[in-house]
Amino acid sequence: GGVATDRRHDSAHKHVTGEAVYIDDMAEPAGTLHAYLGLSAVAHGVIRSMDLDAVAAAPGVVTVLNHQDVPGTNDISPTGLNDEPIFTPDRVQFLGQPVFAVIAETREQARRACTLARIEYEELPALIDIAQAGEDARLVTKPLTLQRGSVGLALRAAPRRVSGRIRVGGQDHFYLEGQIAFAMPGEDQDVTVHSSTQHPSEVQHMVAHALGAPSHAVTVEVRRMGGGFGGKETQANLFAAVAAIAAKKTGRPVKIRPDRDDDMTATGKRHDFLIDYDVGFDEEGRILGVDFTYSARCGFSADLSGPVTDRALFHCDNTYYYPSVRAVSRPLYTNTVSNTAFRGFGGPQGMLGAERIIDEVAFALGRDPLEIRKRNLYGETDRNVTPYHQTVEDSEAAHVIEELEISAGYADRRREIAEFNERSPIVKRGIALTPVKFGISFTATHFNQAGALVHVYTDGSIHLNHGGTEMGQGLYVKVAQIVAEEFQVDIEQVKITATTTGKVPNTSATAASSGSDLNGMAAQNAARQIKDRLIDFATGQYEVPKEQIEFLPGRVRVGNQEIPFAELVRQAYMARVQLSAAGFYKTPKIHWDRDKGKGRPFYYFAYGAACSEVSVDTLTGEYVIERTDILHETGRSLNRAIDIGQIEGGFIQGMGWLTTEELVWDDKGRLRTHAPSTYKIPLASDRPKIFNVELADWGENREKTVHRSKAVGEPPFMLAMSVLHALSDAVASVAGHKICPRLDAPATPERVLMAVERLRAEG
Ligand code: MTE
Ligand code: MOS
Repeated sequence: GGVATDRRHDSAHKHVTGEAVYIDDMAEPAGTLHAYLGLSAVAHGVIRSMDLDAVAAAPGVVTVLNHQDVPGTNDISPTGLNDEPIFTPDRVQFLGQPVFAVIAETREQARRACTLARIEYEELPALIDIAQAGEDARLVTKPLTLQRGSVGLALRAAPRRVSGRIRVGGQDHFYLEGQIAFAMPGEDQDVTVHSSTQHPSEVQHMVAHALGAPSHAVTVEVRRMGGGFGGKETQANLFAAVAAIAAKKTGRPVKIRPDRDDDMTATGKRHDFLIDYDVGFDEEGRILGVDFTYSARCGFSADLSGPVTDRALFHCDNTYYYPSVRAVSRPLYTNTVSNTAFRGFGGPQGMLGAERIIDEVAFALGRDPLEIRKRNLYGETDRNVTPYHQTVEDSEAAHVIEELEISAGYADRRREIAEFNERSPIVKRGIALTPVKFGISFTATHFNQAGALVHVYTDGSIHLNHGGTEMGQGLYVKVAQIVAEEFQVDIEQVKITATTTGKVPNTSATAASSGSDLNGMAAQNAARQIKDRLIDFATGQYEVPKEQIEFLPGRVRVGNQEIPFAELVRQAYMARVQLSAAGFYKTPKIHWDRDKGKGRPFYYFAYGAACSEVSVDTLTGEYVIERTDILHETGRSLNRAIDIGQIEGGFIQGMGWLTTEELVWDDKGRLRTHAPSTYKIPLASDRPKIFNVELADWGENREKTVHRSKAVGEPPFMLAMSVLHALSDAVASVAGHKICPRLDAPATPERVLMAVERLRAEG
């Protein structure tokens, strides 16, 4: 039951049978009210008048809230920039911005009443698309520059040079459980909020500010989310605040759950980017210098756009060494919903810049892109400094690529595909093998801390709590395995309990893939404190030296005798030994100076590679993913079953981002793809026909992570770049691989078809 066992997810059965309790499944106390948001109808404007009389008079309506009903601060911005109101007072900055909320006896009544509002706007010019942003366009937060060497010089001196632009689309999180919050008023104006959030501490602080109450008056609890994917790192704040304000005002429990269309319209998504590049290289395909500008559609407020665009720059190298480099971010203000965290946190967009320039170099020289990739990998002892001046000490990319190239049969298949394409005039095949290197740690150093609380009861059963949240990724079972391992008890003896701000305070978001690294260590620390006390007790009680005490499965060896775990615990209790401990952990070694663009922001890197083969119908642009082989590194895996699930799920979600999921805003700023009818996430039938996933668990993490494992939550998402590049390869075949297809993402069938036609015309 300890670590390194392939235990299934603790709630797997409950997920599929419907027994898992999500917030909307909780029994509602009598008198529960329901809230619904009234959203703005224009992208940019001033509210001239607002008539909510009909709303207030509608059946079942108990009260209507707007900015004047916020008892504390009308702000839920996670940055402290105060740029994101709960209810906008006068100025509307995107279509879908919350203006008011209706509180009614039923959700349906609240929802219907919302439609009766009469709001008049004076419309102002709106900036929707970042392609229209001028040189001096407004930014939502301070941009970042990473620089090493002299780029201008390197570019001018390079024998070959190519510049261009890639457009990378955004992505809706499409968590199965949407945003939801349920607030219960308590004594002394206290409130308990059940929130579907990755960041209970932030929700607690936001709700406290909104209520004008101290943090101790607010408790936030989350047992599980039906998916978060970054979409509940900050986006849950709004819903929790509205529910809490309404609960305080009415003195009754209040639940809020937007429908899918409103959830998609009113909450932030993955940032779409325009990446401009200028790359210099030699005839061998060695990159000599590269100049990148990463422009991102951030929306109307900063939210997490600063760290997201920073992380894009941190991944503009992927696994490649640039002798000279400059990368600049432009976090652009737009009159659209404020974009936020999404699996990879800007890293995926960053890496697409790197992979595009690899493609450019390969096509310019008429080489296989894989050859160019291998030529530019970070070295073991030199050519190993990143654009942010961290030395890559653990480069596994070459190893992973080499192994996968063999196991996937890359060389033979490349030949077979060329032969196939000779014979096949309409259906064309393509293949690509792309690596991933993802930096692990929050780049804001202070977030890299965690706490845990462990109680051992007198019957030997164990209560486990930590600051991490469960969103399906298997964090709870991994941390329980770590605690079971410490005490050498069966995992059934460890009770996994809901995350709550009342047990572990001041936590970081469960994000940056660091959940098990941080909380696993904190829980291990708590367990070890109790274990040490048990050992001390046994030493005294049995007069046996420490070295002769050993925790064995279900029992403890004390000198020559073995005592059942529960028995030793009971004895320790009788001797007044404290059987509860709070654990803590902070990541060592990391530091980051943003102004200088230098430091060691990442404790370590996680590596992987994927090889995908596609076939494309060049008359329609439609395609099938024939086969994907993945080799992904997890260090010494805490749980192979969970890790493989994360790799498969991450890859498929990444594939959706790069192929079928397309966000379309019209020129009025209306999101036209706000439901599954128009927004296409991958179906089971879209997965690769052959899908081989292997863990590269040949080595332990060289850093002292929990049981020497590696984080796995986000890195596999970026393995899907192999699909985009396989599509690019198939498209390139129509012009004899002489022209770079410059395929933008998502490579929808339409975009693939347009690329085919362009290449046919040019080739
Ligand atoms: N897996 C599932 N099933 N559901 C999720 O919401 N979120 C991803 C990843 N895997 C997610 C998931 C994201 S964005 C992150 S940062 C990590 O899980 C967070 O959890 P961890 O740090 O425990 O890996
Ligand atoms: Mo994940 S985007 O760091 O929540």
